Amino acid sequence: MKILVVGGGAREHAITEALSKDDTTIFAVMKNRNPGIAKYCEDILYLAETEVEKITDWASDKGIEMVIIGPEGPLEAGLVDELLEVGIPCIGPTKELARLETSKAFTRGLFEKYDIPGNAKYAVFHNLDGMRDWMERLGEYVIKDDGLCGGKGVKLSGEHLATIDDGLKYAEECILKHGSVVIEEKFVGEEFSLQALSDGHTVIGSPLAQDHKRAYEGDTGPNTGGMGSYSDSDHSLPFLRPGDYEEALAITQRACDALREECGTPYKGVMYGGFIATKDGVKCVEFNARFGDPEALNVLPLLESSFLKICQAVIDGNLTQDMAVYSNKATVCKYIVPKGYGVKSLVGAEVTLDEKFIEEQGAKLYYASVNEENGKVYTTGSRSLGVIGIADTINEAERICERAVNSIKGEVFMRHDIGTPEALEKRINRMREIRD
Ligand code: GLY
Repeated sequence: MKILVVGGGAREHAITEALSKDDTTIFAVMKNRNPGIAKYCEDILYLAETEVEKITDWASDKGIEMVIIGPEGPLEAGLVDELLEVGIPCIGPTKELARLETSKAFTRGLFEKYDIPGNAKYAVFHNLDGMRDWMERLGEYVIKDDGLCGGKGVKLSGEHLATIDDGLKYAEECILKHGSVVIEEKFVGEEFSLQALSDGHTVIGSPLAQDHKRAYEGDTGPNTGGMGSYSDSDHSLPFLRPGDYEEALAITQRACDALREECGTPYKGVMYGGFIATKDGVKCVEFNARFGDPEALNVLPLLESSFLKICQAVIDGNLTQDMAVYSNKATVCKYIVPKGYGVKSLVGAEVTLDEKFIEEQGAKLYYASVNEENGKVYTTGSRSLGVIGIADTINEAERICERAVNSIKGEVFMRHDIGTPEALEKRINRMREIRD
């Protein structure tokens, strides 16, 4: 089967690897020169992933039979709509359905209209009228840009915003950029990601993962696309309780049904819910319309059943729970990022690595937003390499990952604290204090 993967990051490297286990011929569209993806590909179109018409024409010319969209940009640009127009099925929602991610106001409204559990108290603003009052009523609050911001559009009172005036200033910036802003209650708890595949009727979950958004150790510094993540061998997380997974999956199922009802079309693709465990149960922080990055790296390498067959079932609308079998292993992923990442990345710096050494440590390497030129690897403005340890326990996976990441050199940095026993204990204790 001829499959096109759109996107040039580590998530797309993991998607490509998963597809390569079946009888596939893989094509890619990406703006950078990712050597990890390239090694699986029959042909590559080097182009911005939002160039909808050019990609659609190329896919038609190549006889592509299925397209898997990695990042959110092409979903918002309507790539799926165009591909469906010419008869090419996609793993990824249409522009209308992708509002699940592209508009925070749409999703909060959907939850309210269809009475889906886990919603936040929220209000949508198009100007500053009444905003100060609403912030004062909430006390602690979250301000969400109502458009795509590469994971950096959310600011929290007390963390990124010291005063109400800071909040008003940020909210105004959001309105200027995207016309509206969502201001909602701030949940207290630990966040986790549930990535589910949906054929528009059935959703099937994958192992939970926890991302680390802040750039620096101890969860400090600016927000990033995600510095690393971990998952546990029981597919839950050490700070969660039995039933939390099911609660998050049930919310995802309700959202899938609501989207079908609201838009009149089934949602075919990944529904990646950002959830938070609170003293009042599981709440929904946001939804994304694609695999998480890095969270895709925690789950796709564990998939024992055929990813291609799951994708085919998504398209055919006959997805069943038994199709996705994940091994009972723990994973720890750490991202190597350019110096300055999160503020101003050092672009074009060489990163040196030894694939064989990394493999010998038992770790897996996924190339992210890098460029390969003449066998050398250079940074771009975004994350460079994802390294994963996979083992029976999180501790062992972390040690494997750490041995591998320490061998990578260049003007780069990473968070060594991800998945360490100290970091896990802190989260477990915090949740115990919140819930007990
Ligand atoms: N894990 C962050 C993201 O994929 O948006």
